[in-house]
Amino acid sequence: MLNFNLIDQALKSPLARILSWPHSPESYLEFLAPNVGGRAIKARVKAVNQQTARAVSLVLEPNHRWNSHQAGQYVTLTVSINGRRHSRCFTVSHVEDGCPVVTIQSREGEGDSQITSVSRWANESVWVGDTVEISAGAGDFVLPAKRPEHFLFIAGGSGITPVRALTDELVAEGYTGQIDILYYVPAKVDAIFLRHLEAVTEALPNIRLHLVCTREKAEGTALRGHFSEFHLASIGADLAKSAAYVCGPAALIDAVESHWQQAGHANRLTMERFQAAARPVAVEGDAQPVLFSDSNITSTAPGMTLLEAAEGAGLNPSYGCRQGICRTCTCRKTSGQVRDIRTGEISDAGEEDIAICVSVPVTPVTLAL
Ligand code: FES
Repeated sequence: MLNFNLIDQALKSPLARILSWPHSPESYLEFLAPNVGGRAIKARVKAVNQQTARAVSLVLEPNHRWNSHQAGQYVTLTVSINGRRHSRCFTVSHVEDGCPVVTIQSREGEGDSQITSVSRWANESVWVGDTVEISAGAGDFVLPAKRPEHFLFIAGGSGITPVRALTDELVAEGYTGQIDILYYVPAKVDAIFLRHLEAVTEALPNIRLHLVCTREKAEGTALRGHFSEFHLASIGADLAKSAAYVCGPAALIDAVESHWQQAGHANRLTMERFQAAARPVAVEGDAQPVLFSDSNITSTAPGMTLLEAAEGAGLNPSYGCRQGICRTCTCRKTSGQVRDIRTGEISDAGEEDIAICVSVPVTPVTLAL
């Protein structure tokens, strides 16, 4: 078993710096042992477990730079596909033998967009022993410090991944309040972690699973169709007393959010979006030159975000969620004004760090990229 603290101390020693000159000690270690060395959090794919026909769990064995995470948080997973780095955010769905596990569902019918590349890689090309890069855990889809008497988790499709993480955490601490899980899937075969969830609910009477199939009639499920007030009434949900969490497709989250707002309990709802909401602000007509100053490339890409413009110009900036959440794409804007496509807000003209995946130029912009 490697002692990572000793490795860290050795790498920081003056002798290691002298011997490795002109490179860093970490760069040699990274070359010799890619999943151990380097400054990034590297992880070896320890196991690949098929969950459904379209979803796999990757058990990741991180190096010593990994410092755990909170249940419900996501990590940005970066992989090399055909020589190009791709990043995307995935929730740590559970932990196996101390190793974080990410569960990834492939996204059929969405073409070859870059946002689907990592999902495809995980479902079609990954091998045990591959090395990936992960970020520290991030995100606010976590349990409140003071536990309420009732949790209501609403999930759609792969939105079950943080719900499993939160449920496992509550089970591990011996939570005795009520937990209801309202889980929407097209068909029963699409339900990720179904056996695990059924086993938990059989063992613990305070946890109830309500599986809802939206496209087929399934044995043993009392509800069907998309989220509705009727579903909440059927499971006896009390919005005023529950801490509610929703994660899944945008349509599900929008419907749940609107219901909680109308009921006057929006403050009791925590949301996690996996898919970008539709761009609420029109971006057509924004045809401003963008100078990528580090690369000395100028691009004019009307209607595109700065991330899309950079990619269109042949650059390869890092990105994760592509929806302004993870900050992986953050770059220094040295001049010019940009509009945030989520809010319509226009920035100052001065220097600042911006998330380029949700920024479009409204004046000529210079980006340190
Ligand atoms: S890629 Fe996540 S914030 Fe831009």
